[in-house]
Amino acid sequence: MTPAMKIAVSILSADFTRLGAQIAECEAGGADWIHIDVMDGHFVPNITLGPVIVEAARRATRLPLDVHLMIEAPERYLEAFAAAGADRMTVHQETCPHLYQTVQQIKALGKRAGVALNPGTPAATLSEVLTEVDMVLAMTVEPGFSGQKFMPHTLRKVRQLHEQKVALGAAYDIQVDGGIDPATAPLAAQAGATVMVAATAIFKSGGVIAEAVRRLRRSAEEHDRGPG
Ligand code: DX5
Ligand code: ZN
Repeated sequence: MTPAMKIAVSILSADFTRLGAQIAECEAGGADWIHIDVMDGHFVPNITLGPVIVEAARRATRLPLDVHLMIEAPERYLEAFAAAGADRMTVHQETCPHLYQTVQQIKALGKRAGVALNPGTPAATLSEVLTEVDMVLAMTVEPGFSGQKFMPHTLRKVRQLHEQKVALGAAYDIQVDGGIDPATAPLAAQAGATVMVAATAIFKSGGVIAEAVRRLRRSAEEHDRGPG
């Protein structure tokens, strides 16, 4: 029996003039986490959100805020995001020469620690921290923009991360992010993903936001036969 899938709604595609109301709609649809994409124009070719938006989201909801840091030298900003109300912080392996220390820094702030991997970064680069992290994020697109197409080859890495989790007796979540919709979510769930991030599939579905959250969850859970 596979535990329930978690849905993390990325607000990157939200209407920012109505952010509080749109977060409330996600909550009404049963979203588990609010995912906030922080980009610096250096590590990725886009500039997006910072602590000010995390602080606004914090006032709009009691759901966990899942902050995805696509920035260079993330260790410099962990305290600011924690103070703004982040519950979970995910740094990229590619930006952290002192990854073990950065993970410990997140935990010392009393937050859940995640590490993300770009599509071209092997799972093996995390071997020394897998027992330390609360979550691994396998990017299923190149980070930088919403609305990109899911890259199927990344599923092999999701399966590897699941196999390592079983072998280690670890409990980290496996998150997938990029191009996740009712067609791709079942593939990720079957490979072992436990957290689905989605922006376009929720905010640009053409329908009601709460229903889009429910539809994504159904697709992931109904087709999830478990990765074993
Ligand atoms: C991409 C971000 C994602 C993005 C997902 O770099 O990390 O969280 O917002 O957007 P969709 O669901 O549209 O692929
Ligand atoms: Zn993200």
